[in-house]
Amino acid sequence: MTCRICEAPTKEFLDLGESPPANSLVDSPNQRQASYPLVLEWCESCGNVQLRDCLGADELYSDYLYVTPRSGMLSEHYEHLSDYLMVNDYMTADSTVLEIGSNVGYFLEHLKPRVKTVVGVDPARQISEMANAAGIPTVCDFFNEESACRVADLHGRPDVVVARHCLAHNEWPQAMVKGAAAVLGVGGYFVIENAYVLNTIENTEFDQVYHEHMFYYSIKSMSEILRRHDMVLVDVLMSLVHGGSIIFVARRGDGQPTDAVHRYASREDLFLNGATFARFAERTESIKQSLRQLVDELTRSGESIYTYGATAKGNTLLNYVGITAEQIPFCVDNTEMKQGKFLPKSGIEVISEERGLEEPPGYFLLTAWNYQDEIITKARKAGNFKSKFIVPIPFVRIV
Ligand code: TYD
Repeated sequence: MTCRICEAPTKEFLDLGESPPANSLVDSPNQRQASYPLVLEWCESCGNVQLRDCLGADELYSDYLYVTPRSGMLSEHYEHLSDYLMVNDYMTADSTVLEIGSNVGYFLEHLKPRVKTVVGVDPARQISEMANAAGIPTVCDFFNEESACRVADLHGRPDVVVARHCLAHNEWPQAMVKGAAAVLGVGGYFVIENAYVLNTIENTEFDQVYHEHMFYYSIKSMSEILRRHDMVLVDVLMSLVHGGSIIFVARRGDGQPTDAVHRYASREDLFLNGATFARFAERTESIKQSLRQLVDELTRSGESIYTYGATAKGNTLLNYVGITAEQIPFCVDNTEMKQGKFLPKSGIEVISEERGLEEPPGYFLLTAWNYQDEIITKARKAGNFKSKFIVPIPFVRIV
């Protein structure tokens, strides 16, 4: 196919089969759902890694129900990120900050006392209503040049535009970048946070591949997108959130990249290549084989297994490995909105953590492995010393 950043031809390197959209829990175990391929490809020319088949944004986001969790780890991250932006003068007490995909507004809520004005833009109806009700002015819209200009007319021209974990969630991210470029004056900053492709690959996080994740950014590919919209990458910062993220800081007009940009870019020169992608695909296949074998052996010997975390990535994992409710009947998750529903395709029923404690299974397959310590500590504190945990990523092991 063709690179959606630089139009060069791409090469496929990972095929996870077909899966329904990963965040679409269903009301009954037998509800039929359309599945779509999950294939990754990369572009030798600009280093871009992209999902081959993309679903429309309307289909994915208008009724989107993902609410950013209140989590200690995320609050610390907001604190660290805003300090970093302030200390480096990317943001000041006088800044107007516009956040794209601001969800219920937790990051803006954090920034509000530190800057002059905050405003969010988010396409999900219920989510943006929740943000407004909580006092974070939020416009319900897809972000592009037109909506950006409208928001800037209403709330003031931004000095900083922030896009956290949303630039990969769109088949044509150029529309968002173009919108940011249209409202930022020369010298304004565009701050983008996303999963970092080298982390995803090195940790064999193939389960991060689902239909919402349409791009897996590198410094190389992000620089190419920015260059096309009169912006330059001036800084990068690594973070542990969401299994390993990168924060790109771009400046409208020109600017000098920091040493960090050069350092990480030279790592990409070494590792962003066909051999790395081929090894990633081999390790992915080997996780599939080991997990398949382990689940077969345990269930054959009469052990009970539940999954822990009704996560999007868990659905990729379960459907790729071919695990269904026949072997794993329940998934424990503390999100009320998810309880009583069923995971797409596998048909596994989501139950509360309390129900998971009533008769704890012999094993939990940790599909929310990014919260491994938090979840295991919680189970032990609640008196569950029986269940062992199967951690699937970066390799299958029992803890
Ligand atoms: P998340 O990490 O957002 O995964 P994804 O982006 O792949 O969907 O989801 C974590 C899930 O784990 C969320 O549904 C809440 C659940 N969870 C619990 O049930 N108990 C816990 O103690 C924690 C930390 C999370």
